Amino acid sequence: MELKSGLTLSETRTRLRSAGQEHLLHFYAELDPHAQRALIEQIATIELERLPRLIDQYVRHKQPFTLPTRLEPAPYYARDARSWNRDQYRAKGEELLRAGKIAAFTVAGGQGTRLGFDGPKGTYFGTAVTRKPLFRCLAEWILSAHHRFQKTIPWYIMTSPLNHAETVAFFQHHAYFGLSERDVMFFSQGVLPSLDLKTGNLLLSEKGMVATNPDGHGGSLRALWTSGAIDDMKRRGVEHLSYVQIDNPLARVIDPVFIGLHAAAPDSSAEMSSKMVAKSDPAEKVGVFCRADAKTQVIEYSDLPREKMEERDPSGNLRFNAGSIAIHMISVDFVSRLNAGGELSLPLHRAEKKVPFVDPATGNTVQPTAPNAVKLEAFVFDALPLCRSSIVYETDRIDEFAPIKNADGNDSPATCRDIQTERAARWLEARGVLVPRSAVGKPECTIEISPLTAWDAQDLSRLTLPPAIPPNSELTL
Ligand code: UD1
Repeated sequence: MELKSGLTLSETRTRLRSAGQEHLLHFYAELDPHAQRALIEQIATIELERLPRLIDQYVRHKQPFTLPTRLEPAPYYARDARSWNRDQYRAKGEELLRAGKIAAFTVAGGQGTRLGFDGPKGTYFGTAVTRKPLFRCLAEWILSAHHRFQKTIPWYIMTSPLNHAETVAFFQHHAYFGLSERDVMFFSQGVLPSLDLKTGNLLLSEKGMVATNPDGHGGSLRALWTSGAIDDMKRRGVEHLSYVQIDNPLARVIDPVFIGLHAAAPDSSAEMSSKMVAKSDPAEKVGVFCRADAKTQVIEYSDLPREKMEERDPSGNLRFNAGSIAIHMISVDFVSRLNAGGELSLPLHRAEKKVPFVDPATGNTVQPTAPNAVKLEAFVFDALPLCRSSIVYETDRIDEFAPIKNADGNDSPATCRDIQTERAARWLEARGVLVPRSAVGKPECTIEISPLTAWDAQDLSRLTLPPAIPPNSELTL
């Protein structure tokens, strides 16, 4: 039978045999014809030729991360803007927005395992009072940018094969949150097979399905290209993408100052730029912007040695303090250049995970209680050293960083709600509103301000505000 890939069962078996993975067809005869076809098609998409190298590098040898020898903190455009002109770059960013050269880009393909939420993370509630889903938080920012600059801001959303259909259905159900359907584009990222921790073999997640995982947000740089999204941007005249993760409802999805710095700062090649916040403590789980060989790069928290994490400058500040909040500007030309030579390959990072699998001996599904598999992922920030010159811009944590990653503790829905309220409280106080605060200064109320209402305290001057917020009340603006 001719299949979509053009591969037959016997050709598939030959490919698998030479890669030592024939066990993937162990239950083939039990499957119905539809499932048989699907399995052959799925195997056809896996680069079996690459497998021996991956197994050797990431399962047998657990290739260690090598820290660059001369590692320096990356310089950044400081928040106080004493040495640079904020207004000049804001004007540049606004000019690009009015000219329709900016699109928003969100990576939403992750599995949200740590949050323990079974569904696309963007459908999880993100705001403090009205519990708007994370997708709506970002959509409202884009909609308000559209009103401000009188220009459409197309929105590209990367999903994964695991959550694509559900994500698109969610947008349809919510009428695209007021955005125009033709300006919201979804595409799915690639996947990589999960590898058995002991043998490196591929696993079956079902009798007719190979266990795979999304290939990391670094996969976005390839998927933007293969999906046709870059072509779509070129047709629309879009030149730069504002990249945010789905987990941070406070992200300034469109930020004119950052856009302007990325596009016009003298030391920026306008290829890929990043935002940072000062780390809250040495062990905070964020990547850190560093410089090595004259290139900006992020060293992930798990790879930064403790002595570097804790190193202090003569004034007692953390030396490596530029924490990545995973917000970038990326140019369409840069993504095109990265993909022009054929296969774009960023380094892969390994993580040991619990991956349910079908035991070939019994046919039963095993739910492992300890990590049994290696997942491989590419990270988008590994593209930074590929830029000719890349800048970092400091932003305020309370203003822009409240990710929802864990069910409780740090970076949880509770901390996110607190930070949202704190941000809103500061804006209101700047406009003379009395906000009730506890003895330790924590707001004793819950406040939510939509980006459709305000992007900062200044925007609130258009509103008639109450003189004071009653204690223990909820306020939505
Ligand atoms: C990430 C960064 C970290 C940064 C922190 C800020 C990595 C490895 N680390 O940490 O440097 O300081 O955010 O919040 O990224 N995603 C996909 N597809 C995938 C995997 C992830 O779209 O295959 C998306 C997720 O939907 C999410 C984002 O990428 O929006 C973050 O991924 P996650 O793995 O949660 O990164 P963190 O470890 O939290």
